[in-house]
Formats: sequence, C-alpha cells, structure tokens
Amino acid sequence: MSLINLPGLIDPHVHLRDPGQTEKEDFYAGTCAAIAGGYTTIIDMPNNKFPITTLERLEEKISIAKRKIACDVGFYFGSAGDNLDEFEKAKDKVLGLKLYLNQTTGNLLIFKNLLEKTFYAWSKSCSKPILVHAEDKSVEDLINIVKKINTPTHFCHISLKSELKMIIDAKEKGIPVTCGVTPHHLFLTEKDVKILGPFGQMKPPLSSKKDQDFLWKYLRYIDVVESDHAPHTIDEKRGKGTVFGVPGLETTLPLLLTAVSENRLIFDDIIRLCHTNPSKIFGIKTDSQTKIEIDLQKSYIINRKSLFTKCGWSPFEGWKLKGKVKRVFIRGEKVFEDEKILAMLGSGETIMNT
Ligand code: NCD
Ligand code: ZN
Repeated sequence: MSLINLPGLIDPHVHLRDPGQTEKEDFYAGTCAAIAGGYTTIIDMPNNKFPITTLERLEEKISIAKRKIACDVGFYFGSAGDNLDEFEKAKDKVLGLKLYLNQTTGNLLIFKNLLEKTFYAWSKSCSKPILVHAEDKSVEDLINIVKKINTPTHFCHISLKSELKMIIDAKEKGIPVTCGVTPHHLFLTEKDVKILGPFGQMKPPLSSKKDQDFLWKYLRYIDVVESDHAPHTIDEKRGKGTVFGVPGLETTLPLLLTAVSENRLIFDDIIRLCHTNPSKIFGIKTDSQTKIEIDLQKSYIINRKSLFTKCGWSPFEGWKLKGKVKRVFIRGEKVFEDEKILAMLGSGETIMNT
C-alpha cells in the first residue's frame, strides 16, 4: 500500500439542501459524503427552498447545521438585490455573498439592473468575496462591474473557453477576480449527455471537447476545483421537467487522483486547487492536524451503493478510478477510516469569520 498525506480539502461550492429539501440531501449525509471524499471543510450555497436572504433564515440554517454536521461547514448569504439591509446583519456569519445571474435550482435570480447596487452594498459592509453564477455573456457584464467596484469576485463553475479567456484577461489587468471549475466540466463533455440523459444535466451544461481542452490547458489560471455538489433524487431526475445538478463530493478527489496517475496533473495542483486557494479566497483557517491519508494504488469502480450522499447516484457511476481516501482526521480526531464514518452527528464546526 502506498499512502500519502494531504491537508484536509476545502470545497467552496456545495448544496446540502438543508433545510427545505432534505429528501435530496441533508447536513449529516452531505457532510459524511464530504468526509468520504477527502473534504474536511465545505461551504454551503444559499439557494435553499426558502433562499437564505435574511438573517433569520441564516440563523435557522446555522442552528440546524450545528446539530447535524460531521465536518466543518461555512455558509454564503444570497441576494436577489432586494435585501441589502440584511448585509450588515449577516456578514459576520457567512464567508461570502452568492448572486445568480442565470436561472438554476431555486428562485434566487438577480436582475442585471440591480447588480451594481448590490455589489456596492456588499463591498461597503465587508471585504468578503462575492460569488457569481454567470454563464457566457453575463461574465463580461460582471467583469465591468468588478472593475468599477473593485471587490473580490469569484466566478463559479467556468465551463467555456470564451469565459476563461475573459477571466484571464481580467486577471492580467489586475481586476480582483478568481474562478472555479467543476470536476464534471473537466471530465465529461456534451457527448456524455447522450448516455447520461437527465443525470448529465446541470448548470452550466456540459461543454464541448474544445472548451474542456482549453480549461485543462490553462489550468494555471483556474483558482479552485469546486464540486458544485448539487444532489437531486433519482425520481426527480427521471421525472417530467428537468432538474439541474449532479452530486460530486465523493468523486472529485478520486477523479483528480486518477488524473495524477495518468500524468495529467501533479499533487501540487490538487493542493493548490482544493486547499490552498479555497482557504485563501474564502478566509478559512487551516490546522495541521486536519488531514487526509490517500491510498494511491487502490483502483475501484464507482458504485452508487457505496456513496454516502442521500441522492444515491453519480454521473461517474461505473468509472474505474485510482486513488482512494483511507483515513480522514479533523483537528487530530479520526473521522473516517476504510469506508466508515467515525464522526459523530454534530461534531463538525460552523465557520464564522468576523
Ligand atoms: C445547482 C443546484 O441544483 O442547486 N444546480 C446546478 O445545476 N449546478 C445550482 C447551481 O449551482 O447552479
Ligand atoms: Zn452550485
């Protein structure tokens, strides 16, 4: 067995659906999936059934999380541009503000005419980042706003060559932008939708091989790999009307480790993309006793039966991967070993950054 240690990974983009849609996922199952996937800290998105746009809803969510989480969890605040008075009250309890410029799961959508005002209000209240779900042309509009307001802005799940080009250009001009890519955009393309059907539907959609090649080629400009763990039940996926999103917490690191075994990546890339940069961008303190042990030689096939996520499926089902999480430690406490969760319900910490 060939074991290596990595720092506990940080995933800044997950949807744990709690409260409101716990048939899809909940704080306990979702944080167990995180641990099994090598993550010790995750940050939860605000597009719950009742979006997290008021201090009251945020506090309710945090108190539910405290009772259920098995790893550390931070939160984002949401806005449709109509809750600017809440920013000052919520800012110390979250790690950033999330804005949705394109329609996706939930009803948190911000109209373009409210963007500038919202950016300005958040940047007045704190220096924490604004995260944006912006596809295609929206990226350009936003870069112009970031240039003007000069507040750190993270572009979630970049998937197109044209988007990454705009971000590279903005970075080179010194505009404070960062960006993330998802494992599904790195490892699947639009061709896979034919095979996966609804299980390959997410926002942004899977892109072309040309787009994907560009992401890999310019990986040095990408700051973060974010799973965008967005579980929906199998019935919802198969049912009438599309629900967008795929789970990813348990497959992201194994996919990246497999890429290392194929010489497409090096370990330092994984540390940079899944630990150092997310820690810096979202202000997460790290602890040397929070770490994971990986068995590099272990090959196995992704099987839904061994997943901890409540949704119980993966777009990577049947994939043969190499490299598996063997043990996970949080603050020196062993929380996972050989496919078993050892963490207690509620043993994770909620992250507040003042
Ligand atoms: C996400 C979800 O289901 O919450 N869906 C998705 O397709 N990615 C929302 C999002 O991140 O867009
Ligand atoms: Zn998302």
